[in-house]
Amino acid sequence: MTCTVVVGGFYGDEGKGHIVSYLAVKDKPPITVRGGVGPNAGHKVVFQGRTYGLRMVPCGFVNPNSRLLIGPGVLVNPKVLLEEIRLTETENRIGIDKQCAIIEERHIEEEKKDTHLTTKIGTTKTGVGICQAERAHRKAKLAKEIPEISRYITDVPLEVNTAISRKEAVLVEGTQGTYISLYHGTYPFCTTKDVCASAICSDVGIGPTAVDDVVVVFKAFVTRVGEGPLENQLPTEELERRGWLEFGTVTSRPRRAAPFDFKLAKRAVMLNGATQAAVTKLDIMYTDCKGVRNFEKLSEVAKKFIREIETETGIPVTLIGTGPSVEETIDRRRP
Ligand code: GTP
Ligand code: MG
Repeated sequence: MTCTVVVGGFYGDEGKGHIVSYLAVKDKPPITVRGGVGPNAGHKVVFQGRTYGLRMVPCGFVNPNSRLLIGPGVLVNPKVLLEEIRLTETENRIGIDKQCAIIEERHIEEEKKDTHLTTKIGTTKTGVGICQAERAHRKAKLAKEIPEISRYITDVPLEVNTAISRKEAVLVEGTQGTYISLYHGTYPFCTTKDVCASAICSDVGIGPTAVDDVVVVFKAFVTRVGEGPLENQLPTEELERRGWLEFGTVTSRPRRAAPFDFKLAKRAVMLNGATQAAVTKLDIMYTDCKGVRNFEKLSEVAKKFIREIETETGIPVTLIGTGPSVEETIDRRRP
């Protein structure tokens, strides 16, 4: 059994929700734990015909036997959290670390008034940036002070490390992406902290020696929401023609897009210490790949594209998305 960390290799929205939910169903980890920034990330999960847009509850919820944890590094909006717990019916298996910082309504109001954040940077208006700054000033409230969520409070690092020491599988879910990291991304067009694999580990309280695998998720083309550079960006009409036009899960804003960027992918593998890659949306690039579950059944051009990613990045592409749902996944990992 292994401790696997899943992170984004581009600008977020690579489809980590798809990959994490697939791994949760397939590998049956007793624990899925979420790191990352907070409810500014939206993961979409499509499972057994139902679609969920999650901002707080880990995507591993699709496995009914997985305990769901949110690490102390994550900012929690109690209102969003409680609504998602209700929607996913996970009240009996979710745990929030006592040290998660709390986003309050006033953080959201303040962010909306901050034109630097909303206009220049293009933030999600979820209060995350303001709350993170307050946390750095040691003024933000912590989860253990909030009565509405008191029944969910736990010691996440202790639970996670206990499972690892018992050799149980732990699935660690990252959010956002390498190039919107505060340290490694396109500053100032980035999020409020680092979001690479080592930061995600820190968010949930595990040390680097505890990790067996890092899966970096790439989309078959690059998308970016909000402001900031995007090399080889295509015009909207071209995106519509190619079927690449997407809308943000949190903001509903159209996502900008460009062809797959091998240079960024290679650097993302380096920055995250990735051991494997996942590539989502292959069916959007090559429509004849829709729903394929066996690598050999992909078209020759699709196989060539995947092999090129492997050659350029130096790591194997072990998971491939061929449709939005958990079931539409090719798994090339060794059994
Ligand atoms: P962040 O944590 O916000 O970075 O998001 P994310 O990486 O979880 O990705 P998000 O769900 O925001 O965006 C990915 C989009 O692609 C969603 O609409 C998914 O349903 C969709 N998607 C994921 N994998 C596939 C795939 O293999 N094929 C197709 N057609 N759609 C996919
Ligand atoms: Mg997203």
